[in-house]
Amino acid sequence: MCPGSYDPVTNGHLDIIERASKLFDEVVVAVLINKNKKSLFSVEERLEMLREVTAQWPNVRIDAWHGLLVDYCKAHDIGAIVKGLRAVSDFDYELQMAQMNQQLSGVETMFMSTNPLYSFLASSLVKEVATYGGDVSNLLPPTIERRLLDRLAEQN
Ligand code: PNS
Repeated sequence: MCPGSYDPVTNGHLDIIERASKLFDEVVVAVLINKNKKSLFSVEERLEMLREVTAQWPNVRIDAWHGLLVDYCKAHDIGAIVKGLRAVSDFDYELQMAQMNQQLSGVETMFMSTNPLYSFLASSLVKEVATYGGDVSNLLPPTIERRLLDRLAEQN
């Protein structure tokens, strides 16, 4: 299970998804709700974008879930949550979630170190940079960049 907000999916997410797809027989990439974040794209749009950019990996499946992550994992017999760790700053919150999820359900979380090329990358930062006209073309697949720029243009 590679969970996230994916608002939108970035090259950093794709790096983790691709590496997980080589380690596990099947990978579910699930769009989940993060109550601390306001989203730019609807869940449907995020699913569509994820399907488009993960189509080359046959063992990757895309889904959405509005409840607890561990409830989805239990219902689908998923034993491992895979998360990317960019820096020490990610660690506290990720450890807290991993321990909560383990305590709630027994589902384990495995941390993968991000590719150093993407260790500064976050969807929120990409959106901010793009909002002010910065170049984000190295950070997102071209189709996602197009959708992001279109969405930001619609909003102005
Ligand atoms: O990409 P994000 O925003 O860092 O992902 C965080 C996410 C969506 C994986 C996390 O907020 C989550 O698991 N949300 C689902 C609800 C849930 O299970 N909350 C309890 C977490 S311990």
